Amino acid sequence: METEKKDTEKKEKHIWAIAGGKGGIGKSFVTANLGIALCERGKKVVVVDLDLGGANLHTLLGITRPPLSLDDFIRKGMRSIKGILAETGIPNLQLIAGVQDMLTLSNPKPRDKQKIIHHIASLNADHIILDLGTGISPHIFDFFLISDTGIFLITPERTSLENAYQFMRGVFFHRWMTLTTNKKVKKLIETAMDVNNAAGIRTPVDLLAHVENLDKEAKKIFADEANGFKPRLIINQARNRKEAELGFAIRSVCRKYFGIDLGFLGHILYDYNVYSSVQRGRAFFSDYPSSDVAACIRDIAAHVSDGRSLEWSLS
Ligand SMILES: Nc1ncnc2c1ncn2[C@@H]1O[C@H](COP(=O)(O)OP(=O)(O)O)[C@@H](O)[C@H]1O
Ligand SMILES: [Mg+2]
Repeated sequence: METEKKDTEKKEKHIWAIAGGKGGIGKSFVTANLGIALCERGKKVVVVDLDLGGANLHTLLGITRPPLSLDDFIRKGMRSIKGILAETGIPNLQLIAGVQDMLTLSNPKPRDKQKIIHHIASLNADHIILDLGTGISPHIFDFFLISDTGIFLITPERTSLENAYQFMRGVFFHRWMTLTTNKKVKKLIETAMDVNNAAGIRTPVDLLAHVENLDKEAKKIFADEANGFKPRLIINQARNRKEAELGFAIRSVCRKYFGIDLGFLGHILYDYNVYSSVQRGRAFFSDYPSSDVAACIRDIAAHVSDGRSLEWSLS
């Protein structure tokens, strides 16, 4: 998976993936406005709408109808993804719009998926932010795994947390599956993918213990991979301090059951104006640049820029 980049400023380009499993939690809202906040810091940013079933990132940037999208890129056999890069009206922010016709690409063919992945990696920007689709499916895991750093977006709702854990677990098992040729280990991972499996494997830490009995080398490879996996976390729609600090509790759970270090990037407050800006088809940052929510997102952009995450308590 990813290797932590201590100082993203020094790296030419950094790919972030905004994931969460659940729909309606704010993945597109955060992608769009984090993109704008990074541009305010002088960065060149490309945001990519990879919600192939329900693309609407353009709407959250105040664009009614993008001229070209990933659909054109695939269906018309375009040679370069640069041909569909759209200006957003925000200096230094460009958009790769997603597919609005669900039937064509919502479940992409492997060849189309590989083409998209290959071309995203070739984009030229300081930060590329991928707005992943809703759901917990292999093609979303593949898009997640292009990123240098995955960001889990979670709202304080129990269902959001559950979906995020399922997503994390899925990403682990999906990735580990590609790292072994041992048929017994592969079968065990397949078993573990069923959340209610009879072997009682619930978490990646459980699975590692079982793999150790079958293939010590595979266990070592999996554990090394897990050690290099340093995703981040953002809490969205926090209504009070307790909800804002939920990130620290989630971080402990992840350490215990997933064996991973989930860096907390910060929280974004709940604000009814987010809803109203979406209704008006406007970018939130354009209408409410001095709001508390914009301040939260700027703080997160600062952490994204310097590669650090929050420590144990909020100041
Ligand atoms: N911080 C927030 N405060 C209030 N409402 C929010 C916030 N973040 C997101 N929303 C609401 O959630 C809706 C869904 O957000 P969206 O980014 O489209 O979700 P996703 O991409 O995860 O499906 C938005 O239209 C907005 O009404
Ligand atoms: Mg979305």
